[in-house]
Amino acid sequence: MEAPVATRRTILELLAAGGAAGLMSGCAQAAGPDPFAPWRNPGAGEKDPRRWALAHAILAPNPHNRQPWLIQLPGADEIRLFVDLNRRLPATDPPNRQITVGCGAFLELMDLAARQTGRRADIALWPDGEPQPVLDTRAVAHVRLVADPAVRPDPLFAQITARRTNRAPFDMKSPPTADELARVSAGARPGPGLTARAVTDPDQRARLIDIGLRAYQVEWDVKPTHMESVDLMRIGAAEMAKNPDGIALQGPLMEAMKATGLITHAALADPDSMASKSGLKMWQDMLQGTPAFFVIAGADNSRATQIAAGRAYARAQLTATSLGLSMHPWSMALQEFPEMAGPYRETQALLGATPEAPLQMLVRIGRAKPGPLAPRWPLDTHIRA
Ligand SMILES: Cc1cc2nc3c(=O)[nH]c(=O)nc-3n(C[C@H](O)[C@H](O)[C@H](O)COP(=O)(O)O)c2cc1C
Repeated sequence: MEAPVATRRTILELLAAGGAAGLMSGCAQAAGPDPFAPWRNPGAGEKDPRRWALAHAILAPNPHNRQPWLIQLPGADEIRLFVDLNRRLPATDPPNRQITVGCGAFLELMDLAARQTGRRADIALWPDGEPQPVLDTRAVAHVRLVADPAVRPDPLFAQITARRTNRAPFDMKSPPTADELARVSAGARPGPGLTARAVTDPDQRARLIDIGLRAYQVEWDVKPTHMESVDLMRIGAAEMAKNPDGIALQGPLMEAMKATGLITHAALADPDSMASKSGLKMWQDMLQGTPAFFVIAGADNSRATQIAAGRAYARAQLTATSLGLSMHPWSMALQEFPEMAGPYRETQALLGATPEAPLQMLVRIGRAKPGPLAPRWPLDTHIRA
């Protein structure tokens, strides 16, 4: 292990010399469009209220940041939402459940933005039927934006550009208060058949951490699920600019590790590499740094329930953002690939759910400094004639 030690020293030297910052800005300039541009003043200059609302919707949380949204804009006030079937996660999300939950979050942000312009979003879900057992080319939703004087803006709108998934260990000395957690649950407005609640019981928390660690290991031990994540990792500014989606590994340390060859896709694919081992340690610390969990479950596992869960999750996370709290989904033990069956069963049983009416979201919640933004494709890349 001589080489990694030497390389680590090189990284420290680079950082000390400010070389990493130089590397970063150099990469960002060289590689094309700014992957964070969609976060700045979304919809600026748009005349069509649909496009303005959609410029906010694309900032929704979504699994592996696949942004699988295809949009048609028929007529003057209609939106049809489809899933780009090439942007699903077949290994980690075989029934496309998580992808559907992400569509729910998209619709919620679209709705909040429409309200801001005095419009009601009339959303008809699955107008051509619910696709099962996997998604197909049928529409997820047909939407009409209708000007309505009764519509009031929602204060959560203001949190859309501040929200981000925060993968830091949370502050264990200052856990979220019961009042804050109650506000996040209420803010989710889960609606009929859905429950949204915090898990703070010390025993359940400890068991969720234990299961979560084992679930992480399962996902990494199964080649197709591991490689699905590795292939979607965007290492550093240049890769993010080229493909502003997936799992962004960003910041001066990542740039330095990339520049020295310590972190590459090949290294991440090798469980024995230093990159993989330090990744594992990072995820372990993160999971231990979880003062509370937050869960959403439905009365069934229909596509409509999955959409409702995504809408509730978006609202919960925006509410948490308004309270200075961070959230981070930890979905591994909820995944439906065969090798995950053990942790899946344990998690559902622990929290009183079943495979017929499963947990839709399992999320860490706590306090931390805001994390980095995740890249986004520009709105136009989602629009189809
Ligand atoms: C259904 C769903 C499942 C998710 N599961 C995970 C997860 O297991 N691990 C994780 O780090 N992030 C998870 N996320 C968060 C996404 O990775 C994140 O939303 C995406 O990368 C975009 O980043 P942003 O939320 O900061 O905009 C999940 C999000 C959704 C909606």
